[in-house]
Amino acid sequence: MSLIGKVALVTGGAQGIGRAVVQLLLQSSAKVAVVDLNKICGEQCKTQLDAEFGEDNSIFIQCDVSNGEALKDAFQSTVDRFGRLDIVINNAGINNEKNWEKTIQVNLTSVIKGTYLALEHMSKENGKEGGIIINVSSMAAFLHSPHQPVYTATKHGVIGFTRAMADASCVGNYGVRINVLCPAFVDTPLLHSVENEDNMGKFVKFKDDFKHRMDKFGVLKPSLIAEGMMKLIVDTSLNGAVMKITCSKGIHFHTYEPMSA
Ligand SMILES: NC(=O)c1ccc[n+]([C@@H]2O[C@H](COP(=O)([O-])OP(=O)(O)OC[C@H]3O[C@@H](n4cnc5c(N)ncnc54)[C@H](O)[C@@H]3O)[C@@H](O)[C@H]2O)c1
Repeated sequence: MSLIGKVALVTGGAQGIGRAVVQLLLQSSAKVAVVDLNKICGEQCKTQLDAEFGEDNSIFIQCDVSNGEALKDAFQSTVDRFGRLDIVINNAGINNEKNWEKTIQVNLTSVIKGTYLALEHMSKENGKEGGIIINVSSMAAFLHSPHQPVYTATKHGVIGFTRAMADASCVGNYGVRINVLCPAFVDTPLLHSVENEDNMGKFVKFKDDFKHRMDKFGVLKPSLIAEGMMKLIVDTSLNGAVMKITCSKGIHFHTYEPMSA
């Protein structure tokens, strides 16, 4: 698939799932802005991307997505550098039940802010050409977990917000498709943070149960999640879709009962 001429912004793109999708976007000839808090990881990632894809095709922007002004600047810098914006992946997320207010800021508030900024730059309402937004939720929104109550709440929130915005985009003719992706356990540094008291607070005592669930449901590779994202990007029929990715069923979609009064 070719994304020649398209420009993407990926939050949390320096490692884990975000890093895998950045790789696939560049392989598909898109230009990519990697937006991440972690400067060391971001610079290492940029060096590797330059070696593989050439230095003109990506930029690294250090940014804390929970800082609204910094996130706004990151979007503007991307458009200043590449001239347009077509694809936004609100992927940055943390697992922190100890500092749960921060978890809400990063996992939910910043996804909302990132969606609104994306619309400013892509919506036909603002005279732009349309585009696609993917917000990253989690199977935690379906498989309730006693280890991560606030993380779970944020991921429910991301689904509700994304579906409502997809409807708004349709009714308002924004020309922007807005979808949500829910991976099960994925082999990234975030998954391994469930063993740390600093991340889990009092819920760390349930870590053996968490590991038991990982054994039961299996652990996915980040590359499969990136593959799911590419499907959401290229399939122009998808808006408001809730994609799930699990070991048992692979890439598939959640279906909802038709709305009744
Ligand atoms: N790993 C899993 O099992 C799993 C499962 C389902 C959903 N997810 C979701 O996938 C997304 C990516 O997670 P991952 O597993 O790749 O995690 P990760 O920790 O490997 O990568 C997350 C990236 O986000 C960056 N980041 C964190 N806070 C940030 C902030 N405030 N501003 C900017 N960047 C920030 C980190 O520096 C890191 O590069 C998250 O939203 C996560 O909740 C992960």
